Parts: sequence; C-alpha cells; structure tokens
Amino acid sequence: MPPQFLDLPPELILSCLANLPRVDIDSCVKCGNRLLHGIIASSVLLRYLREQELAGVEENPSLPWALGISERLAKLKERETAWQNFSGLSTHSIALDFVPTGIYELGSDIFLVGNPADPLTRMSTGVKYVNTSPASNSTPSEWGEVKADKPVIDFGTALEEHDLLAMVTYTPYDTDPQMASVDVMLFSLSTGAPHPLAANPTLHIQDVQVDHGHPYTSLEISGTTLALSLLYWDYDERDCDTLHIYNWTSGEARMEPYGVYNTGLIFLREDLLIVPDTLGAQLDILYIPPADDDLPQFVQSCLLPAMKPDTIIHDIQCRGAPNPRAALRRTSRAPFLPRPSDAIILLGLQVASETDIANHILVIHRPTLLRLLDAAAPPEGKGLEWAAWGPQCTRWLDARDVSMRYITTTVGQRLVTIGRDAPDVPAPIRVLNFNSRDVEAQRGSGAPDGPHATVRVVEAGTLTPEGFEEPIVSLIPFVETCSRELFDYGAVLINDENILGARFGERNVESIVVHHIG
Ligand SMILES: *[C@@H]1O[C@H](CO)[C@@H](O)[C@H](O)[C@H]1NC(C)=O
Ligand SMILES: *[C@@H]1O[C@H](CO)[C@@H](O)[C@H](O)[C@H]1NC(C)=O
Repeated sequence: MPPQFLDLPPELILSCLANLPRVDIDSCVKCGNRLLHGIIASSVLLRYLREQELAGVEENPSLPWALGISERLAKLKERETAWQNFSGLSTHSIALDFVPTGIYELGSDIFLVGNPADPLTRMSTGVKYVNTSPASNSTPSEWGEVKADKPVIDFGTALEEHDLLAMVTYTPYDTDPQMASVDVMLFSLSTGAPHPLAANPTLHIQDVQVDHGHPYTSLEISGTTLALSLLYWDYDERDCDTLHIYNWTSGEARMEPYGVYNTGLIFLREDLLIVPDTLGAQLDILYIPPADDDLPQFVQSCLLPAMKPDTIIHDIQCRGAPNPRAALRRTSRAPFLPRPSDAIILLGLQVASETDIANHILVIHRPTLLRLLDAAAPPEGKGLEWAAWGPQCTRWLDARDVSMRYITTTVGQRLVTIGRDAPDVPAPIRVLNFNSRDVEAQRGSGAPDGPHATVRVVEAGTLTPEGFEEPIVSLIPFVETCSRELFDYGAVLINDENILGARFGERNVESIVVHHIG
C-alpha cells in the first residue's frame, strides 16, 4: 500500500495543517482520528495561526521576529486585551510647529498633512508626514516632507502596498489663466522622488475653466488601480463632476470619465469599487477587471433605506483601512497588521432636509457584503433592495452627537468615536469592535469592567435615523469599550497601533496626542 498522509512524520503533518483555514482544521478535529487530534491539540503554531485569523490580523512579515511562537501568541493576546480594555497605554504628543492646510490622511503608522499654504494661492504645495507610534532608534519622530511644488488640492496613499503618495494638483496655465490643469503626481513616500513603478509620474486628468472653482476630490488606490472623483461643488452646472479610473503604473485611463454626484469612494475588494450615488440613494458597485483590455462596468447597486420626502443625501464620505492590497512593500513596525479582507467600511452620511442637516454613520461588514454579492443574482433593473442586504451587512449608528470632523476613524474591525462637544465638555473615547469572536467572548464572560474602561456588548438593534422613513434594523452586534478617562479632543483617529486625539485651532489641527496601545 502506498504511504498515507497519516504515515508522514508528525512534523510534516503539522506543516501541512498549518496551511489550512480554521474551518478545515476544525473538520480534521471532528473526523475522530486520534493521531490528527493529538497533533492539532498540542500544536502552539496552530493555536497561534487560529488566534490571528480570529483576531482579523496577520503577523507583520517584515519584522525580525526574535520571539518563539508561544511568546508571539501571548503578545497577540496581550494586544487584543489592551484594545478591549483600553489598557497598556503609553502617551506622547506630536506638535505641529507649522500651520498645515486642511487636507490630511492617516496611514497604518503615519499621519500626513498638507504643508503650510503658499501665501499667494493659499494652498499646500506638498505633504508633511510624521510617525505616529512612539519613536525608536530606527524611526525617530521627525517630520518628513514630499514636495510637488504645485498647488495641491488633495492627496491619497497606498503606502503599505506601494510606498505610494499621490497628490492631486491644480495649476492655472500661464498661457491661459482662465484654464487650469488637474493632474495626479505619483511619488514614492520614502524617497520623495517620482514613483519608480509609474511609467509616467504625472497623470494629466483634465483641463478645466478656473471659474468652476477647485474640485473636491477623493482618491483611492488598490493594486494598479487609481480611482479619482472630481466634483466642482461651487459650479452650478455640475456637468464636470466625474469619476476617473486609471492604471497608475501604465498611466492609461481604464474608462471614459463617468458622471457622479458624490465625492467619496471606497474599494470593497481590489477589483470592486463602491461608488455611492447620493441622488439615487444607493451604493453602485463598479467591477474593475484584472486586465487592462476589459472595461470596468457597474455590476450591482445596493439600495439605501427609503428616505422621507423632501430629504436628500447631501454627501457620503467613505473609509476602510487597510485598503485591499496585493502585496506588502512598506510595513509599519507593528507586530500585527489588520487584514484588509476583514476590515469594516465606514460611510459618513450627511442627510439634508429643508430645515436641518443630520449626520449618520453606516458601518458595512466587508466580508458579509462580499459573500452576499457573490451569491446575489446580477441586477435586474433596480438592484438590491435594502431589506435584501442591509440588515445583515450593516450597522447604523447614531451620529447626532459624534465628532465627524475626520473620517479616518476606523482600522480593521474597530471604529473610534468621541462626542462632538468634547472640546467644551470632556468626553470618553469609545472603541467599537465589530469582531464577532470578541462579541461572543464578551457575551459569554460577563467580564467585570476594568480600571480603564467599561466594556459591553451592543446587540442587534433598531434605529430611525433622522431623514429616513422607517426604523432601520441592524443585525450586527459589537463590543463597545468606553474609556473612564475623559478627553477634550476635537476628533479621534485610529491606526494600526494607536488612537490619536486631535486638537484644533481656529481652522486646522494644532496638536495630536497619541495613545499607543499596540
Ligand atoms: C497596468 O499596467 C501595468 C504596466 O503596463 C501592467 O503590467 C498591468 O498588467 C496593468 N494592470 C492591469 C490591471 O491591467
Ligand atoms: C479586561 O479587564 C477585565 C478586568 O480587569 C478582565 O477580567 C478581562 O478579562 C479583560 N478583558 C479581556 C478581553 O482581556
């Protein structure tokens, strides 16, 4: 008889098992073989892999890991406990000894802002950035700068995947001051030089009349795809408001500019882009094929709940971090990196009636929505009714009293908030964790509140957000950690290892306090 799998030496069996997803290992346990059961039960490696999967993180592959597996497992558990209990904090401040402009971005380990405005144009001409985690010998907390030497209206990044910083510039022509050129300049963050993977380091997007004003933009990058929306809110006609899809490495446009009504965009997967349609109150899903020759196309629409008459969605901002990525080229020093496939997506909706403007937060559970879209039939006419996808894939949050100043409030499966009035009446920081394993564990343990925070499960619930017709059901529960200490921040932000509290001056951010959690 040829040798069977179970005739292999135990260490080889273990190496094979280590490549299986958790469900398959569970099946091996259930199949009742004692040898297999013994190997699985006694393996720290399998426990460590399982814990990573359950926590929605992966080990940082670029760290020189000196620890053994059981120590890494302990470190991961320690990290999860610290986030849940708001413990294990060290705190340091980042001073801004310059006046930034309002454009900003938060990477897995760095904070980026527009550099001081040019006095003539009152716009940034580049981007300054600083490390957020505590300084070490290898990464001192000094500001770096990348200069475009042109007026910059916005920027976006793909730092972990490509070390890429993309700036959107707006330059009136010397020869024809009535016209301006809108371009995207592609830089390598670490060198400040044009990005080596870009065949052409400047993408010329369009020429536009200066009387249209500056566009509002959103720029998202995943893989070789760069998605850019340009909306001229100050120009009444609104016929120049468009979405552009580029292969940023070849410099080629992937499709004709497409008319849109909303600025925000977000990748659901590397080949799927969510394009919110505020007029239609729906989320359109654009499929971007993996080969340049095939045209992107809209494949599905997910309808939002019915709105009251005379109420409109004014604006939808989007955020999900980390972005879907094909590779990791530049990583932080964090031991564990949140996995893009598990990361929640945050939509900040601004809803306007004749008398009032209200903000709402809609959290989308990315893996659940992807599963549902895979199973859903292609759209016939209208797309997916809210009831067919919304309750099971989303969570609505009451954002009436929440600071919506920054949208960079989510990483992995966590979302961080602080009260809108916190600068006047200090308020707790709340961390909402949508990881289902953690919800179950918290439900089961009834763990007592810790010294730094109170922790509770917020179960499925119903909310009638202002401007909407009917109560909205959200089936996704979460764990809420509410700090005991109160803070006066104007906004809180979150990245891989930290919660950042921002204080604002008259207009722009003045200082940042970093609560390092790990
Ligand atoms: C984008 O362009 C690069 C360089 O020309 C090419 O290798 C790559 O396949 C293109 N990407 C897609 C999605 O076609
Ligand atoms: C948080 O702290 C409490 C009390 O100190 C403890 O019982 C609990 O296990 C901790 N939670 C986690 C997730 O470790």
